[in-house]
Amino acid sequence: MSKVANFDPIIDRFGRLHTNLRVSVTDRCNIRCFYCMSDEHVEFKPRTEILSYEEIERFVAVVARMGVNKIRLTGGEPLVRHGLSRLVARLAALPGIDDLALTTNGILLEEQAAELKAAGLRRVNISLDALSEATFRRIARRDGLDRVLAGIAAAQRVCFDKIRLNAVAIRGLTEAEVVPLARFARDRSLELRFIEYMPLDADGAWQTDQVLTGEEIRRLITAEVAQLVPAERPDPSQPATDFAYADGGGLVGFINPVSQPFCGDCNRLRLTADGKVRNCLFSLVEWDARALMRGGGSDRDLAELVRDCVAAKKPGHGIDDEDFIRPDRAMYQIGG
Ligand code: 5AD
Ligand code: SF4
Repeated sequence: MSKVANFDPIIDRFGRLHTNLRVSVTDRCNIRCFYCMSDEHVEFKPRTEILSYEEIERFVAVVARMGVNKIRLTGGEPLVRHGLSRLVARLAALPGIDDLALTTNGILLEEQAAELKAAGLRRVNISLDALSEATFRRIARRDGLDRVLAGIAAAQRVCFDKIRLNAVAIRGLTEAEVVPLARFARDRSLELRFIEYMPLDADGAWQTDQVLTGEEIRRLITAEVAQLVPAERPDPSQPATDFAYADGGGLVGFINPVSQPFCGDCNRLRLTADGKVRNCLFSLVEWDARALMRGGGSDRDLAELVRDCVAAKKPGHGIDDEDFIRPDRAMYQIGG
């Protein structure tokens, strides 16, 4: 087979080499977490504005030629998009892609875990913010905790290379979930990550004082579950600070975008479900890959668009700056 020519690597003005792409496959979701979506009257993009699997594959193939080797599928909720395992199989087969992962809310995972694994998916992150039914419902504003737990069990049965639980931490709401979540993950040998609540909720209700910091959570776990010690960090660009239980009981990570921004090592770019390229979750500008692809642009044009996007990347998100402006799209429209 002839090898396609590579494009130059993607390096921004601050020397950050971009090797990691997050692809949102849909803006739709089967629940309504308040930190992401509104409860009612959510406006979704019409189907024609959403990239087809062929378009996503083409985009990924181009950035793979620019050195991107890590892909994560997100949403919205990726498993609500019909036939996702077809896309997984196509992306897994692309040269240069050596890490293919998925972030899901877990509700449909029990039905799909086996086919996703067979299609070549290696790793899954499952969102689980609460183990109490009442708290789950206050966050998601829908039922579904039992489905998520069934999804986690199914993921363990089909033996993905790695399964991680993601918990968004919210002050005044999830403090009492921290210890049960830590015990749940520890008992099942699952990695657990706590994520600080970021100002990306559709309702614009985020307040600094709702951020339950990673540091506070770590102290809670150390006091109530077992001692945590700093763990090795094999990949400096990964946003989490990892800790390991001193007694060998597994890993707990903390993504602290608000209290400890990690933008300095960021190597991520994003493709939204409607085909816009973003250089940051908090970016105020987007580059329209869909228009370019549908307008007959070449792969080289697409590579240049990605390069322009990353060249405009700022050093950091500046959530703490006085002149911080929230992006006008919420998490479900950007891709988590
Ligand atoms: N702040 C932090 N994390 C969020 N997520 C969604 N919205 C937010 C927010 N405002 C998380 C989800 C999921 C991942 C895709 O992003 O819970 O784990
Ligand atoms: Fe759906 Fe994920 Fe947004 Fe929750 S955070 S509403 S699961 S897309």
